Amino acid sequence: MSQTTVKPAVAFVGSTGLLGKSMVPIFAQAANSGELSELRLLVSSTPKLWLERLISDTVKIVQVNYADQKALENALQGVDVVVSALGTNGTEVARRNLINAAVAAKIKAYVPSEYGSDMDVNPYPLPMFEEKQAHLREAKAAGLKTISLLTGFFLETIFSPPFGFISATNTWNLPDSGSNRFAVTSMADIGRYTLRAVILVFEEPEKALEKLRILGDNSTLDEYAAAFESISGEPPTKNTISRDQLKANFDADGTIVELVKLLVADGLADFTENDNELLNPGQKYFKPKTVAEYAKEVGGKPWITIHSPEIDAS
Ligand SMILES: NC(=O)c1ccc[n+]([C@@H]2O[C@H](COP(=O)([O-])OP(=O)(O)OC[C@H]3O[C@@H](n4cnc5c(N)ncnc54)[C@H](OP(=O)(O)O)[C@@H]3O)[C@@H](O)[C@H]2O)c1
Repeated sequence: MSQTTVKPAVAFVGSTGLLGKSMVPIFAQAANSGELSELRLLVSSTPKLWLERLISDTVKIVQVNYADQKALENALQGVDVVVSALGTNGTEVARRNLINAAVAAKIKAYVPSEYGSDMDVNPYPLPMFEEKQAHLREAKAAGLKTISLLTGFFLETIFSPPFGFISATNTWNLPDSGSNRFAVTSMADIGRYTLRAVILVFEEPEKALEKLRILGDNSTLDEYAAAFESISGEPPTKNTISRDQLKANFDADGTIVELVKLLVADGLADFTENDNELLNPGQKYFKPKTVAEYAKEVGGKPWITIHSPEIDAS
């Protein structure tokens, strides 16, 4: 391990999105406590009050136009690590120019906006995933050291009715048998794991950190249902959907909503092998939120509310 007291300067893009909003306060706290030398929040929209409240001696907001390559390069001067939580829709120019600017600014590492399933084991085509993979290839080909954080599904959204695991009337649709494990991670914990990865790559650049699988919980849908029921006291109705039916649904529809259930049925969202210990040995830095803990926050009824205290606090 290299002994260094120099701390990384981080640029964060996508601060105002669903995920970014939960990650940014974690990074701001790290900058204020001296774990980072600086946090630059690159923002393309008009900064909201909650974001401006984070400004401090070490936390700055930098307004950017992602189409302006030169300005983007200037915004990244002196930055060690770029962390992206950009959305997938409409960000092609932003993502491409970010790579070019990061190369020009000679950053040390780039965390692309991945935060999902392990695309290396997913055999099913989805344009959103193909775009992410193409971006990753482009970043590597440009010479950037990339760190992909694979997080499973977001704890605060996957149990809401739009994903179809649970209906608004507490009916659970179990992919195949309901007995396959699948990983979920709370959005704030994604921020905490990403921060540890950033610090690790800066302090120990020799470590292979290209792809990190992290999680807060990795249980089965039956176990998740039991965790919510133990709080709500309301027994769920359970439907089993066969793997063949899920495949037919995905073939007909081709959306992420159908894909997540198919991945669970195939056991491809199981993160039993993961990198939690590498980033957070013995939970030294934080205790990741489990589904049982989340169940308490939502009164056992995730079908009623999409709830995240970290977002509410912002
Ligand atoms: N695993 C899961 O369950 C799961 C669930 C949802 C999302 N994700 C992943 O998490 C990542 C972040 O997704 P998200 O839903 O948080 O993103 P989002 O809310 O759609 O957008 C994130 C931010 O991107 C920035 N942006 C820059 N250029 C933009 C443009 N042209 N159009 C729109 N936004 C632009 C905006 O920030 P500024 O205004 O600050 O510039 C925006 O707030 C993605 O990789 C997504 O696939 C995973």
